Amino acid sequence: MSSNPAPIRKDFPADFRWGVSTSSFQIEGGAREDGRGESIWDRFCAEPGRIRDGSNAEVACDHYHRWPQDLDMAKALGVNAYRFSIAWPRILPNGSTGRGPVNEAGLAFYDRLVDGMLERGLDPWATLYHWDLPQTLQEQGGWTSRDTVTAFLEYTDIVTRRLGDRVGHWITHNEPWCSCMMGYWEGVHAPGGRSLADAMQACHHVLLSHGQAVALIRRNSPDAQVGITLSLHPIAAASDSAADLAALQRHDGLRNRWFLDPLFGRGYPEDTLALLGEAAPRVEAGDLAAIAAATDFLGVNYYFPEVVQDDPDPTTGGPTRTRLVEREGVERTGFGWEVSPQGLVDLLARIQRDYAPAVIQLTENGSTFEDVLTTEGRVHDTERLSYLQRHLAALRQAMDAGVPVKGYFAWSLLDNFEWAEGYLRRFGLAHVDYATQQRRLKDSGLWYGRFLNE
Ligand code: FCB
Repeated sequence: MSSNPAPIRKDFPADFRWGVSTSSFQIEGGAREDGRGESIWDRFCAEPGRIRDGSNAEVACDHYHRWPQDLDMAKALGVNAYRFSIAWPRILPNGSTGRGPVNEAGLAFYDRLVDGMLERGLDPWATLYHWDLPQTLQEQGGWTSRDTVTAFLEYTDIVTRRLGDRVGHWITHNEPWCSCMMGYWEGVHAPGGRSLADAMQACHHVLLSHGQAVALIRRNSPDAQVGITLSLHPIAAASDSAADLAALQRHDGLRNRWFLDPLFGRGYPEDTLALLGEAAPRVEAGDLAAIAAATDFLGVNYYFPEVVQDDPDPTTGGPTRTRLVEREGVERTGFGWEVSPQGLVDLLARIQRDYAPAVIQLTENGSTFEDVLTTEGRVHDTERLSYLQRHLAALRQAMDAGVPVKGYFAWSLLDNFEWAEGYLRRFGLAHVDYATQQRRLKDSGLWYGRFLNE
């Protein structure tokens, strides 16, 4: 346990953005309503054995109908910003206008949602892609196909023309590592691919689509701030041996630098390209310049640190010839993720030292534990509460050291559909009873509300 006392809001600048973070597929439900098309996650959920509890997100938190109540709850918490994502298959049920018309009802839903935020004094922070690709595009190769970049730009143009007058922050992509590496290489997320070359090509196209979208968003939403959100990890070597220290560099190359380097204008890291060999992506002239488009902020999602060891056997060590090991005797969340507020301090210091973005937004941070709903309707989630407090204290420490963080978004407002884990993992500040859809703030949510209203 860190000795940091619980922080207070006044420790942070008055213009700091305090938020909660959500995503369309994880909360909306309404899967067949108002013309929404199928996404790769709907298809993935329908495949036996993909989701641990055999569930799907057809109803999820029923946010599609209950959004006024959810925004009321966010407002009551005292946040001033609300991060959500737009479901591409609601806007273009077939992925692109070449394959089918724009769905007005989908645009109208996000109109209402954004207006609902503004009415409640919540700044809308919209993520354009939080993993729910239209299934029709997957049938043409999904993110492995360069045509998906074109389709993303068309989708971005349509959405930002419609909402650009009211959305002040646009995030092009959420966590390309997860959507591409877990989706096309590890096979554990939609679309369930198992090819490293596909994953690397998908990553390249996701980054390219980000870079090319920036100018488009600026044109349609001239007053907005634009950025991308990455999942980043502080990484340590399991020992001081030369082999483990080299393993750290290799792992960091694929996990962190592969995304940060091209976004900050350095192209792909040479050492990682060499490791990838034939699995390296095809890059066309001009792509790297496009990816390096200037943005207004870097979105960082921080959950846990990693410890890495040399593993020369390519069948187990993969392209980086590394293996993750677990530190002994440390706190872990219900997911087994190491709890490390210090990891946040280290990560932010490293980003600042190596890349110096003008602004960092902490777009996700949170934890899952086994929650128990008492007969009085309370959830005494002391571990999540402590996680939140200690990560806020760590954030303050990083800011004191000069890291320009301007906002913090707790993942998540509500318990929701946690991807391959289905409903088994609860990350919410509010508990959701999926049988009744009743929401109840947990002790962590009640504390966040007190902190914000102080
Ligand atoms: C992140 C995702 C988010 C949620 C949290 C727990 O990787 O961006 O959708 O699943 O993890």
